[in-house]
Amino acid sequence: MISQQTIDIVKSTAPVLKKNGQQITIRMYEIMFHNHPEMKEQFNMSAQANGSQPARLATAVYNYAAQIDNLPALKSMVEKIAHRHVQTHVTPEQYPIVGESLLQAMKDILGEAATEEVMTAWTEAYLVLSEVFIHREHDIYDEEGKQLMHS
Ligand code: HEM
Repeated sequence: MISQQTIDIVKSTAPVLKKNGQQITIRMYEIMFHNHPEMKEQFNMSAQANGSQPARLATAVYNYAAQIDNLPALKSMVEKIAHRHVQTHVTPEQYPIVGESLLQAMKDILGEAATEEVMTAWTEAYLVLSEVFIHREHDIYDEEGKQLMHS
């Protein structure tokens, strides 16, 4: 459960995320690959260079902010991303790394707009979204494991 206060604050950041989303996600990958260069291997680096992956992540972050009070509306987005994550062997342990990089990038790009209140709300909201992905990806990994056993 996300608190109503968090929902309200995160939703109020949707317009600024629409405007600055890609700057934030470009910065996020910069921070993440600097701190964890080994993670580059999981990513298609040409999709980084041409900006298509930062654009996809920015859209997802914006959609989450805009629909945080209506999570079922995000189901098809979550499905698509979760399948891509399983294909690229994303693990639950990697979520805090992405989260830390994303939150730092928001601070860097949003400056004064990234108040303590905004950062606290986004920390909670990110945790909730990562749990959604981790559970769904766990089930997909499980289904794939079963299929392998029967093939
Ligand atoms: C809540 C957190 C996250 C969100 C919102 C998110 C979002 C996305 C989106 C929108 C895509 C593109 C899907 C597509 O259309 O193909 C994607 C792909 C991907 N994500 Fe995530 N992701 C998250 C967490 C993570 C984590 C923790 C990792 C760990 C390394 C990760 C690694 C990847 C990789 C490797 C791809 C494929 C990128 C490529 O093809 O270069 N993501 N993610």
